[in-house]
Parts: sequence; C-alpha cells; structure tokens
Amino acid sequence: MVWKCVIIHKEVGDKMKLPNLMEAKKRTNEKVKTKTNEYIVTHELQHLGEGLFYYVKTYGCQMNEHDSENIKAILEDMGYKEANSMETADLVILNTCAIRENAHNKVFGMIGRLKHSKETNPNLMIAVCGCMAQEEHVVEEIMKKYKAVDLVFGTHNIYHLPQLLQKALEKKGQEIEVYSMEGDVIENIPTKRDNPYKAWVNIQYGCDKFCTYCIVPYTRGKQRSREKEYIIDEVKQLVEDGYLEITLLGQNVNAYGKDLYDDYTMANLLEDVSKTGIKRLRFVTSHPWDFTDGMIDMIAKYDNIMPYIHLPLQSGSDRILKLMGRRYTKESYLELYHKLKERIPNCSITTDIIVGFPGETEEDFKDTLEVVKECKYDSAYTFIFSPRIGTPAAKMKDDTPLEEKENRLYELNELVNQYAKETNERYVGKTVPVLIEGISGNNKNMVMGYTDTQKLVNVNASRETIGRIVPVKITEARTWSLNGEVVE
Ligand code: 5AD
Ligand code: SF4
Repeated sequence: MVWKCVIIHKEVGDKMKLPNLMEAKKRTNEKVKTKTNEYIVTHELQHLGEGLFYYVKTYGCQMNEHDSENIKAILEDMGYKEANSMETADLVILNTCAIRENAHNKVFGMIGRLKHSKETNPNLMIAVCGCMAQEEHVVEEIMKKYKAVDLVFGTHNIYHLPQLLQKALEKKGQEIEVYSMEGDVIENIPTKRDNPYKAWVNIQYGCDKFCTYCIVPYTRGKQRSREKEYIIDEVKQLVEDGYLEITLLGQNVNAYGKDLYDDYTMANLLEDVSKTGIKRLRFVTSHPWDFTDGMIDMIAKYDNIMPYIHLPLQSGSDRILKLMGRRYTKESYLELYHKLKERIPNCSITTDIIVGFPGETEEDFKDTLEVVKECKYDSAYTFIFSPRIGTPAAKMKDDTPLEEKENRLYELNELVNQYAKETNERYVGKTVPVLIEGISGNNKNMVMGYTDTQKLVNVNASRETIGRIVPVKITEARTWSLNGEVVE
C-alpha cells in the first residue's frame, strides 16, 4: 500500500509542507480580512455523508468545544448524522488539546483504541484536528506510527473540512492539511449548538501574549478580532432564537479590537452586546494585563453582564511571573482583584495556577499561597507545569523533582478547596437566580443549573423549570456545588 501525504500550506500555494511551530510564531502587521464565502459545500458534497454517522470527541477548552459545534454542523451539511456513541460511528473526529502532556497522552491512547476498532470495521474513518494537529512532532508521529488515522486538519482549516473529507474518502492514505499561519477570519461557518439555552460566541481568535509556558499562540496563531457587527448580529439572532445566556469566547478577550479598531475596545463590545437584551452575558478568558477600568465600569453598570470573572494568576511570585512573561506583578494583580471586588457587588472570581514552573523555589510557591489566602478564590484550576515543545519555558532549567511539585499541588489544592467550600457556605439561606439547564447528574429527580456567579446548583424542582431562570433558595453547600429549592 502506498501512503501518500499531502500537506498544503496556504501562503505558498499547494506546496508540501509540515505544520511548523517556528512559522506559527511569526507575527505580521497585515490586517486580517473577513471572508464570507470561504466555506463551500457543493451539491455533490451535500450528499457525501448520506447514511453515515459521525462522532466528535472534544478535548480541552471552550474554544475547542465551540469548534466542535462548527465541525458537527459542517458534517450535517454533508448529510452525516450524529451517532449515539463512538462505537456506532463511521467517522470519528478527535478534536485535540495541546496545553499539557496528559491531554496529549489521552489522545494517543484514544487513537490506539480506534486502531483496534478499525481492524473489525475497516470502513471506519479516523480524523484528528485541534491544537495537537498544529504541532509538527505530533503530525510526524501520526504519519510514522498511526497510519490508521485517515485525516489530519488544523485549527485554521475547519472551513475546508468538506473538501478534505472528500479527498480522504476517495483515497487510501493519509490526508493532512495544516496551515501554520492563521489566515483570515471566516464568517460563514455553520454551528450546531449543544445547549438550547446557552451559546458560545467567538469574538477573537489566537493570542499574541506568548506567555513562556504556553503553546496556544503557536497552535491558534496571531490575535484576530471578529468585526463587531458580526458578533452583535449573531447575539441578536441568538436572543431571537430564545437563548438566555451567551459567553463571549477568546484566548484573551480583553484584548478584543486592538488588532482591528483604533477606538473600539472590549468595554465597548460588552456594552453593545449587553444592549441586545440577552439575559446573561459572560466572557472568557481574561488576561489581567488587558483588564481595563472601562470594562469594570460596564460590568458594574449592566445587570445582564454576570458578576463572574475568571482571572488567571498563574503564580504569586514576581520572579516567576517575570519568567512566565505575564507582564504583571503580584501587587498589580491584587490591585485589580480588589478593584473588581469593590466595584462589582457579589462578584465571584476564579483563577488558574501553575505550580512547579522551572526554577520555582519553596519561597516562590509560598508567594502563590499568600495570594490565594488573600483572594480566597471561589475556585481555581491548578496544574503542574508541563513543558511544551517549541515554547521558551521548555528550555529553562527545571531541577525541582516531580514529587516536590506534586506536594506543592496537593498543598495548594487543599487551600483552594477550603476557600471554595467557605464561599459556597456563604450562599446557604440566600435566594439566587439560577438558569436551569437540565436533569441533575446526581439525582434524576432533581434539575441542575448555574447561578449568575457561575456556581453549579442541584435544585429540587420539577422539570418544567428547565430553560428558565428561577429563584432558588440555597439549602446546602458542598466544595464544588450547591443544593437548593425553587421559591416561586
Ligand atoms: N503547563 C501547565 N499548565 C499550563 N497552562 C497553560 N500552559 C501550561 C503548561 N505548559 C494552564 C494555564 C492556563 C490554563 C488554560 O492552562 O494556567 O491559564
Ligand atoms: Fe497562553 Fe498566555 Fe495567551 Fe493565555 S494569555 S493563551 S496563557 S499565551
């Protein structure tokens, strides 16, 4: 059998080329264009998936979840239907995450499993996309060792999926298309939303911050903001369709507009989106460096902008923050934190923290614990540093033993959990608005939803409350969730 590999790179036409992290690092001043007719499904392609079932498995962040919603809609435009399980699918797409080593391992484990399924079902097609597909060493490994994978496409190639699938179906060999450079913002990609009440809305792609540990600026390309008119129109349509909540999505949403406008910022966008009348407006993720007073003014002014902010700290040590390239100090972070707490009543704040960054001493770690003690976060996502090939931090000297890093993570988590439980306990006896989304995972006789402050609540209420924002009296606090009952 002949294995043929076609790697197309946009900037150089159809020349064979592997994804290239160094190339992905390049930034140009060229303004990104908006394209409204790049996604094309011809009549022939509309029938390609007829009688076939797909399954999309998503790893990683909300950006990937929303990309999967796009991928599902594209497949349905091609006649595919969604399978109930991976086992019954004719096409499995793994939408991958490259942020840490364990995400990598999970994907390769899954590819190994699918390879076996292919032995019993030779017609099964396997595709890999997402951030791992942007990494050259991953694609090389797939080409060498995982020939069961039929198709690899990058984060900038989603709109081209119909044509890629057609090529992959026609030939016996791997089809690989990964653009290293980001290209334009494409506006006509469809979406099949997973949740009937809450929707993701992209406002910005990529990241130019280049924190030294992070692979995202390489896998997602340079910061590109969507034009405001497209965002506002999308939200207006969602309101009309009955959605109650939207989350504005981006790797660094606070930098919205900087690449596109001279005088239109995230603060302006928050105001304009708020005025569409959407009941609940959220946004992720915020880099503290770009968080302006103008944004705080808007969150404080408009009731439909939720009092919930995810504000990644990463480290509480100035020395480590500098090595991470985070552009703020412990002091300036705390200043912003306290300003948010003062200006936005009942605001809940969550964070991300990395322990065991190269060279982190016990002293540095203690500084992180100090910030956690001062901020008493509603919750925190905590990670052990994971070196990512191609990033500056992966080359830094790292002599802290893994066991020591695990101990630090354990100590940090104990503290984080303590504050999470304490903040939740303050809700007991209070009545708060909850958007009821569905049946509770814990108890089929209960429903579940989220407060305005993004707390998960299991509610004693009838299923008729699903799809509504209802007042709920909190009766019990746990570390990661609340219990309550409807008071109507
Ligand atoms: N190692 C560990 N954690 C990381 N994150 C990003 N890159 C790495 C890495 N190399 C964490 C950061 C970020 C979150 C999404 O993932 O805390 O905010
Ligand atoms: Fe990664 Fe830093 Fe950009 Fe966040 S702001 S995506 S951590 S480089």
